Order: sequence, then C-alpha cells, then structure tokens
Amino acid sequence: MAFEELKNRQSVMWGSGPYEPIVEITSEIHEALVDALDAKPGQRWLDVATGTGAVALRAARAGAEVIGVDLAPALVARAKEKATAAGLRARFETGDAEALKFEDAGFDVVSSAIGTQFAPDHPAVAGELARVCRPGGRLGLACWTPTSGVADMFAVMKPFMPAPAPGVGNTFDWGRPEYVQRMLGTDFDLTIEERDTVLHADSGEQVWETFATAYGPTKTLVGSLDDEERGRLHREWVAMFERCRVGARIEQSRTYLLITGTRH
Ligand SMILES: C[S@@+](CC[C@H](N)C(=O)[O-])C[C@H]1O[C@@H](n2cnc3c(N)ncnc32)[C@H](O)[C@@H]1O
Repeated sequence: MAFEELKNRQSVMWGSGPYEPIVEITSEIHEALVDALDAKPGQRWLDVATGTGAVALRAARAGAEVIGVDLAPALVARAKEKATAAGLRARFETGDAEALKFEDAGFDVVSSAIGTQFAPDHPAVAGELARVCRPGGRLGLACWTPTSGVADMFAVMKPFMPAPAPGVGNTFDWGRPEYVQRMLGTDFDLTIEERDTVLHADSGEQVWETFATAYGPTKTLVGSLDDEERGRLHREWVAMFERCRVGARIEQSRTYLLITGTRH
C-alpha cells in the first residue's frame, strides 16, 4: 500500500487530541452535509474519515444504517462511545479511505466531511468512493478550499513541518471545483457549491489554545518543536488570527466546497 509509513504517523497524529472542540467549530458543515444527502431510515450509509462520528451519528439519528471508518483508532473509539451513549446503532471501524474493506456498490450513500481530503493518494480515494457507492447512490463531500482560513492555518504551520513526501496530494486541491470534476466527474454527476462557515473566538490566543490542545496536526507539531520554534509558531498563529479581528471578536471565514453527486 502506498504511503504506509506516512499513514501510520497520520493515524497517531489525528488521534492525539480530543478533537471534540473542533467538531463544535465545524458542526455547520456536518449539518449541511447530512441535509444535502437527505438522510433516511434504511439507507446503507458509509461515512469515510469519520473522526469522532459527527456526520455518521447524525445520519444514524435519522434512521440510516451507518458505518463510520477512520484512520485513527483513538477517534474511532470515541465515536463508538458516543454511539453507545446516544443509544444509536452506528458501527465504527478503523480503516483507510484509500483501501476500503467493503464490497463494490455496497452503499446507498457515501460521505466525508473535511476528511478524505487529508489522505495522500487522491486518485486512490476517488476510486474507492466510486467503487463502494451503488449505481444511483449518492456521494457527499465537504472540502476546505485553498482560500479558506483553514488553508491559512496550515500555511502558518507549514514552515515548521517536514516537507511532504514526493507524490503526496495537496489537501486543498480538493477545494477546487475543476480538480474535483477531474477526480470524480467520470463516475458521478456532480453538483459543487462553495459555502462559508465562520470561526468565532474572543482572541487569536483562544484559537491557539483550542487547536494546540485539541487538533491533532497542530498538537503533534507543537510537541515536535523546541522552545524557540514553538514560541515563533505560537506568535505567528496568534498574529494570523488577530488579522481576522472584527471589533471585539475574531471572525475567520472558512470556505468549503459542498460536493454532492449521483453515481452513474
Ligand atoms: C479534519 S478531521 C474530520 C473528521 C470528521 N469527518 C469531522 O468532520 O468531524 C480529518 C479526519 O480524516 C481522517 N483521515 C485522514 N486520512 C485518512 C485516511 N487515509 N483514511 C481514513 N481517514 C483518514 C483523520 O483521522 C481525521 O479523523
């Protein structure tokens, strides 16, 4: 399997923070995706890169028969706990979006919220999303755009991170409509819409505290740096968010593509 070692590291990285504070910030996206896919009782629904199961649990609440898969075992464990606590029958498993362990055409709905765009091999992901979705079935993806505040956040982190391995796809390419058409347009009739969700906070410092403790990529990066580098990343992060100040509050625009499709 391609990028095996990278994905082993990513599975630990994504599971290194509790993630729930980030789910709160991104809940508008989860709502929009489940609404767009019109969750109904009896649908066989696969949520890929499910994290702590935000989309999967919403779909299960609407009666869909849901399986959520994610690379990070720690997040899968939290999703299972949430399903049990809510009395929902969703199933959660560890799995790789590039090599799904499900039969061809086995699902009526396949979804991923700001998830599959983080897998390194984009053509492999696109192939798997198409393979497991039945003809006439529905696809729904939410992907951060290259001009979103999330891309700005990763741009601040990038100089402190190791260079990506050769051949790793650019996460934010999935936020460009023409790229999405190229990846998925042969297998799906696509509708692509740009939407915005705004991150609200009291200060750049508050955003730093949230992400440095709860968001796997930031938490892992912070833990890998020496004091001098950590201090520099901290200052640059806070300054970037403070540039999004509107009066007394931080309001950072985070545009994403809401991609829906019907499988040919
Ligand atoms: C930004 S989080 C989104 C989680 C969830 N979909 C949500 O919206 O709350 C990205 C997720 O993608 C998962 N992920 C990254 N690469 C993956 C891969 N190759 N296969 C499956 N999951 C992956 C991570 O473990 C992480 O849970």
